[in-house]
Amino acid sequence: MRHFKFVVVLFVLLALLVPASMAQDIPASGEGLTIGFSQVGSESAWRTAFTEAVQAEAQARGINLLFSDAQQSQENQIAAMRAWIAQGDVDAIILAPVVESGWDDVLQEAADAGIPVVIVDRNVDSDPSLFVTRVSSDFVHEGRLAGAWLAQATSGKCNIVELYGTVGSAAAEDRHTGFMDIIDLFPDMQIIHSETGDFVRSEGKTVMESILSSEDPANICALFAHNDDMAIGAIEAMKEAGIAPAKDILIVSVDSIPDIYDAMDAGETNASVELSPFMGGPAFDAVVSYLNGEDVPKWIPVGGGLYTSRAAYDADHPASS
Ligand code: AHR
Repeated sequence: MRHFKFVVVLFVLLALLVPASMAQDIPASGEGLTIGFSQVGSESAWRTAFTEAVQAEAQARGINLLFSDAQQSQENQIAAMRAWIAQGDVDAIILAPVVESGWDDVLQEAADAGIPVVIVDRNVDSDPSLFVTRVSSDFVHEGRLAGAWLAQATSGKCNIVELYGTVGSAAAEDRHTGFMDIIDLFPDMQIIHSETGDFVRSEGKTVMESILSSEDPANICALFAHNDDMAIGAIEAMKEAGIAPAKDILIVSVDSIPDIYDAMDAGETNASVELSPFMGGPAFDAVVSYLNGEDVPKWIPVGGGLYTSRAAYDADHPASS
């Protein structure tokens, strides 16, 4: 009898020690979960590759992914999240935010409803207690890589045109910050024009056309484009203006999409910093860990290097060559 009482007390104590959230026993794949994914839009080839990678990962894992394309609008993203919260039909939300600010209310609403949110790619400036984690690259580091490559290629002497991404987005603001960290070390390196092309190829072309019409091209040493699509648009503008891209004007950009390696093969651009589109797996893993009551770090980094040739990129990515 005494032995029986001991076992009962032990059982009760163990039950009290187990956090409530561990009552869930989600398989590691996340199979059977329903997850809302609010995506920025399809402004760039990288974004489309990222969407496709997340969808493929969800399908492979047996996760029911509710996809919402916000078409570059924060209002659309908040509306989609509110609809999921009101319907109560999602186990978690994955948010790829278009801009950094303005998320506090909707993140609080998700927290109040007990729906965990994982941030992917760009950052939010909300209190970190309002989301589980962020899966992303280090945009500041990307900017520093681009700046360091350019400083070396020009021996620290260069007039630079910057094609800025979406104003207010972490990807644009942080890449600029990282780039300036390096450029500011060199008194003879400076940005002479900085304008946004919103991460869109056609806008990169339009903005570059306008800069080339107001500035003597001989005075431009290099282009730093916050993504490859804007760089490719700018390359078209340079060629139409009779300028040899990658020779008359050096070019460094970010994303490492397949098109930029076509341009590199053609000798029309110089370098690209990689941004991996494979953030879906770590984001789903974070959701599962959280729902199973495990600790999740506040930042799950995704790495990437700078490449100056397709061969160098392929050597680091044997599966994609
Ligand atoms: O947030 C990441 C950026 O968004 C990518 O570099 C760009 O191509 C996309 O639009």
